[in-house]
Amino acid sequence: MNIAIIGTGYIGLVQGVVMSDLGFDVVCIDNDATKIEMLKQGKSPIYEPELEETLKKSLKNGKIKFTLDYNSGIKNADVIFLAVGTPPLADGSSNLNYITAASKNLAQFLSKDSLIITKSTVPMGTNKKIKKIILDELKKRNMDNLNVSVISNPEFLREGKAVYDFLNPDRIVVGIDENDNKEKIKKEIYKIYEYFLKKQIPIIFTNLETAELSKYSSNAFLSVKISFINEMAMLSEKTGANIEDVSKIMGFDHRIGNEFLNAGLGFGGSCFPKDTLAILNIGKNNDCEMSIVNSTVKFNDDLKDILIKKIKNKLGSVKGKTISILGLSFKPETDDIRESPAIKIIKKLINMGVKIKVYCPKGMEKTKRELKNYSDFIKFCENEYECAKNSDCLILTTEWEQFKNMDLKRIKNVMKSNYFFDFRNMFSDNENIRNYFHYYPIGRN
Ligand code: UGA
Repeated sequence: MNIAIIGTGYIGLVQGVVMSDLGFDVVCIDNDATKIEMLKQGKSPIYEPELEETLKKSLKNGKIKFTLDYNSGIKNADVIFLAVGTPPLADGSSNLNYITAASKNLAQFLSKDSLIITKSTVPMGTNKKIKKIILDELKKRNMDNLNVSVISNPEFLREGKAVYDFLNPDRIVVGIDENDNKEKIKKEIYKIYEYFLKKQIPIIFTNLETAELSKYSSNAFLSVKISFINEMAMLSEKTGANIEDVSKIMGFDHRIGNEFLNAGLGFGGSCFPKDTLAILNIGKNNDCEMSIVNSTVKFNDDLKDILIKKIKNKLGSVKGKTISILGLSFKPETDDIRESPAIKIIKKLINMGVKIKVYCPKGMEKTKRELKNYSDFIKFCENEYECAKNSDCLILTTEWEQFKNMDLKRIKNVMKSNYFFDFRNMFSDNENIRNYFHYYPIGRN
């Protein structure tokens, strides 16, 4: 089966590479020439475990191609995936310009009945709009006799585990327009996702709006869970409770579940912050007060200030001090720093007159670009030891496995003072930690 994928971001690229490895013939289309050139050479523009190896294998086997040219990508496609970005606009709403442009472009080259599958996270009603855009374009070409179906198939993979998650989803959601031929589309989906059927992954067929909302509500719910546990962590600090035990106890209740209850410095990344803002915007446009999501977003923002206040309380003044930050990516196993809590804390500390030293296994290059205007106040280091050298205080902001193995005594010995704020509770169970540092985890003593 020939598959075309428009957009080579986290979703499109992972989908393309993995489906080519599953035996499909894949053409990935993107309008970023540098990216396409890199991908043709077998280099992934993002760091994601297993991705580059699989990409190289598929290129070698001739199962995947990359192009800027819609025509060559679309003309032989049996199915077209739309996986372009929907980044937030200033008011929090989703920027649908890329989706609109991609829909118009692909319609120029459709020559047979087609199934378009939207992977991008889009507000309710967008897939119907995509269909209208495509039909309008086909009309201009006198080809509106073609039968085009646009379905919504949101992706739930996580960064850092993208390849694994793509192959092992909890469920597959397929939203179909009530006017389309459901049985025909179901058969197509079973062919495309045969691999998942064999693994008995549930496939849920529903209407377009439900599929669209299911992605937002899943991300919003997980965000609520994180802000909730972080709020309990702050209360734990004030009352002598231990948030890790609280999480464990809550997690044993199967109605709650034990995942996404790790207290920390708040959620970041390109998804939760974007999708929670988008849902607030959709709520506003539909006269629905989304007070739970609203509080979640607000608390997630406020948390950085609460944590900085805690640092100030312990250190006295922070002005003129040197603070070392371990971890820049919004979570481990990715070089993605979008909406990373570490970056937000760095900016706030610099504005308070702090000198910053940073180290991250993968997030350095992107941070150098992001913080170029702060370059006088920030030093990028080769490793955790150089980062800690002559510093007053260490803050662990991303739970990279590498940090777990660092030599704590050596870190302490190179530091000027020995304050250690562990915002991911990586060392909270380490019996030695307090021998070396004034140690402050999240939500417990
Ligand atoms: C998230 C969802 O988990 C995916 O299901 C979804 O497909 C994806 O967004 C998307 O919309 O594309 P992702 O942003 O890659 O995936 O990362 P997560 O692992 O969900 O983590 C998000 C943030 O929450 C990170 O900053 C992480 O550190 C934080 N987090 C997570 C916590 O603070 N505590 C936890 O217990 C879990």
